[in-house]
Amino acid sequence: MKRILLLVASLCILGTSLFAATIPEGMAPLPTQVPVPSNNPMGEAKIALGKQLYFEPALSKSGEFSCNSCHNLGTWGVDNQQFSIGHQWQRGGRNAPTVFNAAFWSKQFWDGRAPLLEDQAKGPPLNPVEMSSKDAESVMAQLKEAGYEPLFQAVFGKNSFTYDNMAKAIAAFERTLITPNAPFDKFARGEGTISAAAQRGMQKVEEVGCTSCHSGDLFTNNAFVKFAYGSDNGLKSVTHDKGDDHLFRVQSWRNVAMTAPYFHDGSAKTLAEAVRVMAKVQLDTELEESDVSDIVEFLKTLTGEAPKVIYPVLPRPAGHALNWKD
Ligand code: HEC
Ligand code: HEC
Repeated sequence: MKRILLLVASLCILGTSLFAATIPEGMAPLPTQVPVPSNNPMGEAKIALGKQLYFEPALSKSGEFSCNSCHNLGTWGVDNQQFSIGHQWQRGGRNAPTVFNAAFWSKQFWDGRAPLLEDQAKGPPLNPVEMSSKDAESVMAQLKEAGYEPLFQAVFGKNSFTYDNMAKAIAAFERTLITPNAPFDKFARGEGTISAAAQRGMQKVEEVGCTSCHSGDLFTNNAFVKFAYGSDNGLKSVTHDKGDDHLFRVQSWRNVAMTAPYFHDGSAKTLAEAVRVMAKVQLDTELEESDVSDIVEFLKTLTGEAPKVIYPVLPRPAGHALNWKD
């Protein structure tokens, strides 16, 4: 009996040491807990309301665009377009990042201008090229007409039918959009394996230095760094500080294989191209084509399980149309 136990123990030790040797330091499975701000605790009813609002075209002036138009939950939280289509078929100047796992980012937007999901959600309804409502009051008027007031009251209490609470509910819903159990995560937990090419790619990204920025369990250090590429000023467009020129948030590699095209300007059509550009611009390195394809294979192992979202029924007044203004 003792001998068997010893054998099991030594196999375990051997197992862990082999496993530790293959996974570069810092890489780990996606955390299961998202950060939640103390002034917006999660709750089932709030999440359900947030989900309705996420799919609610009444947030847009035309009654046509919802958050899901550009961040389609059926396609990894993106629209796979270089620039999204918004109000009156207009296109903005930046690529729509995914909402999946957004709860983990230090700040929202490529240039970080919204610290929290709550701040972010107040932007699109009033953005002229996105949902284009005139002001918060007109958004709330459309939501009222649709029948949302009692739903807000059930979640937030009396006199709670406000634009801020709209954003809070959406943010709570977004915090549920996480994507666990990617093949890499299972591999890191010793529950499965990834291809030899992916394992080579995993070593390569550390060897060439990608992981100095794309580090840790999120594959981003969540910092804003220089990306001397394209004409967008990044963080400088928010702070107007010269030192912030072309600073962008390091994007996570989580689900990156599913969110083409790449970069803030959606200019890289393929993941291989994005990898080549990154190596050149960020690390001044020309990668061998075999390394590019190994890295791409590794990045593919970071595609997790998409959250299962049942399309919600939205409140509507029986028997009459909403008063959309286009
Ligand atoms: C017309 C398309 C469009 C609509 C509608 C839209 N978004 Fe976005 N979203 C974008 C684009 C483009 C960006 C990037 C803008 C930037 O960084 O300047 C973005 C950024 C974001 C981000 C930041 C993610 C990150 O990685 O930083 C979140 C979160 C988000 N949107 C959620 C929402 C929510 C919630 C709604 C509905 C209230 C919404 N969006 C409506 C296009 C859209
Ligand atoms: C100095 C920091 C840094 C290093 C090193 C770095 N990156 Fe990046 N990476 C970034 C930033 C910042 C972005 C966001 C770029 C933007 O705003 O368009 C990014 C974006 C990306 C994207 C596109 C993500 C998306 O959603 O559009 C990929 C893919 C990527 N990096 C892969 C790599 C690979 C592979 C390496 C190593 C060869 C690497 N990166 C090295 C900072 C870095």
